Amino acid sequence: MDAIKKMKKEIKNPFPDGNCFFCGINNKFGLKLKFYWDEEKKEASTEYLPAKHFTGQGNILHGAIQMGLLDEIMGWTSYAFTEKMAVTSDINVKFLKPTYINREKIRITCQVTSKEGPKIKMYAKLFNIEGAVCTTAEGSYHLLSSEKYRGITSLIKIVPFENIHAAAFKQLNLEWLEAYELFEPADLKYLDNPLSNILEQGGKILMAITDNAVIGTCAIIIEKSNTAELAKLAVSPDVQGKGVGRMLAKESIKEARKMGLKKLFLVSNKKLNRAIQLYESFGFKHMPIPKDTIYKTADVYMELQIN
Ligand SMILES: CC(C)(COP(=O)(O)OP(=O)(O)OC[C@H]1O[C@@H](n2cnc3c(N)ncnc32)[C@H](O)[C@@H]1OP(=O)(O)O)[C@@H](O)C(=O)NCCC(=O)NCCS
Repeated sequence: MDAIKKMKKEIKNPFPDGNCFFCGINNKFGLKLKFYWDEEKKEASTEYLPAKHFTGQGNILHGAIQMGLLDEIMGWTSYAFTEKMAVTSDINVKFLKPTYINREKIRITCQVTSKEGPKIKMYAKLFNIEGAVCTTAEGSYHLLSSEKYRGITSLIKIVPFENIHAAAFKQLNLEWLEAYELFEPADLKYLDNPLSNILEQGGKILMAITDNAVIGTCAIIIEKSNTAELAKLAVSPDVQGKGVGRMLAKESIKEARKMGLKKLFLVSNKKLNRAIQLYESFGFKHMPIPKDTIYKTADVYMELQIN
């Protein structure tokens, strides 16, 4: 089985709060399932060891749990196939053989059967340990536009930095700085001492949080009385592309206006094209890089007049 798993890629959980009963890592009553994608077969799969307390009749896994598992894998399949979230329109489940709770893992697989515009259809199968198909499901799902999908940002709160966020502030930033090979000692001034080097200098740090995790951050670092640097914008890789960075940048600009600042500037690097597109969409304008910048890797400099 391990060899098979190696050929498949784990599908990254697109839900930032991790509360889903079937797949959320933070739901203490949940099944914490992991889903894998086989690009060659275009097939999603997962395994589950049925828990005794999900018994229906005798030692048969309750049909509602089986239906839930089949529904869940269809959601993951459509996500792996289209990179969009989908909602269930209808499911037709066939119980062909009993699925026993007998300390053996069951396996569930799913493939897309058709896709037309926002409508996607899938077929999922639940196998027992002997490889016999016990239950099948045909499902129709509706793919959400990215706008609607971004409704998940309603689960996210933007809050001011507190000391308990210090480790996350550093970690979120170190992660991308190292990944893009842009880390330089100058970064540590702010990452190690945000309190004394940002907040006590009149700056602000915003944190994006869910009920259980810190998933993003952005700082306003005062340079002179009416000018500040927008810096250390980072979103956890697991939840990038879902509107969190936009929320943080928008709130930071709003905050900078409230602080009475006239101008925001930022230094960046051409490698960070997502961030640069984001800044451009808020009206930041490219300018020549000032000679006195403390960052050696900086090759992008932008400014935004805000008041
Ligand atoms: C840059 C970053 C903060 C954006 O956060 P995010 O939550 O992924 O971004 P969002 O989902 O809010 O998208 C905001 C914008 O980013 C840009 N963007 C996001 N994903 C993109 C992609 N795959 N390709 C191109 N642009 C993309 C778009 O302009 C998007 O605008 P839209 O809302 O009109 O689609 C995040 O990608 C990150 O942490 N990157 C590494 C750190 C970094 O680059 N920091 C900036 C240092 S200067």
